[in-house]
Amino acid sequence: IRDGEDSASLYVANYIVERIKYFAPTPENPFVLGLPTGSSPLGVYRILVDRYKTGEISFENVVTFNMDEYIGIPRDHPQSYHTFMWQSFFSHVNIHPRNVHILDGNAPNLEAECIRYEAQIKAAGGIDLFLAGIGEDGHIAFNEPGSSLASRTRVKTLAYDTVLANSRFFDNDVSQVPKMALTVGVQTVLEAREVVVVVLGARKAPALQHCIEEGVSHMWTLSSLQLHPHPLIVCDEDATLEL
Ligand code: GLP
Repeated sequence: IRDGEDSASLYVANYIVERIKYFAPTPENPFVLGLPTGSSPLGVYRILVDRYKTGEISFENVVTFNMDEYIGIPRDHPQSYHTFMWQSFFSHVNIHPRNVHILDGNAPNLEAECIRYEAQIKAAGGIDLFLAGIGEDGHIAFNEPGSSLASRTRVKTLAYDTVLANSRFFDNDVSQVPKMALTVGVQTVLEAREVVVVVLGARKAPALQHCIEEGVSHMWTLSSLQLHPHPLIVCDEDATLEL
């Protein structure tokens, strides 16, 4: 628990930098990092970019896999997760484009795309550290309430609350928000060797309470981390209001 958003972001960014440095990745043995979108990781990305610019960390031997992507908006749409990731992180560091993996929400065969993505994660040796945020309903990636805890990468219909929450990025117009997405599954996240979740603000307080203090439930998919051997939740004080 950190006192505010900035100190929580700083903690997470430092943690990731230390993990990558300790791993000492090489082209043959890269560090595999899972990444989220949303406002929660923005501070972390900003600090990681700063650390890169000061020469403290290199992303040359880092391979990334993003958690999710909307279905049905072009890849270069201002609100696609592809655009978000390049604008907020990838364009500012020395990651090689071939090392960046983001699900293609416009693939002609979405099921095949999901199978391909899982195979790519496996071929990369699995994910060393999955960074995540959560939705107000406790979802991790786009694993909405009711998602199987054994789920893998797949097509998911978004919960109305999520569509509503995300409408702030679409001129507050719910009709413009995609209603479906591709997302890694709960099991895909649980298979990462380490999972770090950043939870900021009072809006997330009920979800954090359900996920930490209640039992494991497919209705609050972050709670699945109770089954993970190496989870870390970093939050600000506001997010702890219900604990
Ligand atoms: C979307 C993303 C999630 C993210 C959530 C919260 O639903 N698919 O990965 O955790 O938004 O976003 P924010 O951090 O903006 O509250």
